[in-house]
Amino acid sequence: MNSLFLSPEHVLQGGYFNSTLRKLQEPNTSIEPHNIMYPVFLLENEEAMQAVSSMPNVFRYGINKLIPALSELIEKGLKSILIFGIVETLPKDASGSSADSAENPVIKALPRLRETFPELVIACDVCLCPYTSHGHCGLLGDTGAIDHASSVTRIAEVALAYAKAGADIVAPSDMMDNRIKAIKDALVANKLQNRVSVLSYSCKFASSMYGPFRDTMKSSPMAGDRKCYQLPPGSAGLAARAAARDVAEGADFLMVKPGLPYLDIVRQTKDRYPHHPLFIYQVSGEYAMISRCGDDAEVRTTLMETLTCMRRAGADCIITYFAPLILNIIGNKQ
Ligand code: PBG
Ligand code: ZN
Repeated sequence: MNSLFLSPEHVLQGGYFNSTLRKLQEPNTSIEPHNIMYPVFLLENEEAMQAVSSMPNVFRYGINKLIPALSELIEKGLKSILIFGIVETLPKDASGSSADSAENPVIKALPRLRETFPELVIACDVCLCPYTSHGHCGLLGDTGAIDHASSVTRIAEVALAYAKAGADIVAPSDMMDNRIKAIKDALVANKLQNRVSVLSYSCKFASSMYGPFRDTMKSSPMAGDRKCYQLPPGSAGLAARAAARDVAEGADFLMVKPGLPYLDIVRQTKDRYPHHPLFIYQVSGEYAMISRCGDDAEVRTTLMETLTCMRRAGADCIITYFAPLILNIIGNKQ
């Protein structure tokens, strides 16, 4: 009787009734260690280790505490990190001079990290906001607006300093126009262009999901906001132009940030630039939301689902504070 209503060509369930068949239905969505990059907060005080109150299980480390923590993760498969420097006693000034001074925690730590973990891919966030007295990501002119030329020059200087100190990847998050070309030029001038890559935060939106990060970094702007350089959340068009510009200027890798609400931008960027590895940043606000979504088991399944969807949308590498938990989850499965 019922077979009258059965139309075989519309039966999909014959294709995913077991887990092996389901895997074939989800191509390019596996989560392996090389698909994960772990952001780390690095303090000036080499012995310090501080919990981040707004982000459960996230810590800020001095280098002597970071090295043992990373050793453990590398044993579990960790392949890459993204370092953010935090200054507490070094001066913050109008030009962000502590970003690349000899005392900067990133500059000091890079040679040791390089030597201790020769295989680890070390990316450094490049920005001025943690180091400027005004807290903006670029330099300000007399009127208080961003001064484009001096900002780009300064960002390239900082990127070059991290490259010289041993970074594999420099990742400018400032969103100043033309900084990718300035950084590439600086690398070429110093014969580093084939040893250091540039990961552009190409599609970075002016999001309200950076709150826990800014608390941790003490990097909020003193006055105003970042809407004149970070992209308006509703604009797919500017995101397309920003990615096109950064590709033209020589970016090795592109990024969409934040992650989950911006998966349409991930797909759009991947479709236009299929030959550029695409990063996605699961930002601090997303981390806070998922961390609080339920009990441990719910957090794990929700997390893995979001990562799968990021991969489906076209992300090749996910920058996430959940990296330690992910390594546990995928390690236990194999
Ligand atoms: C600073 C920077 C921010 C993040 C990475 N680099 C904050 C901002 O732009 O205000 C956000 C990271 C996160 O929220 O996890 N340029
Ligand atoms: Zn910044």
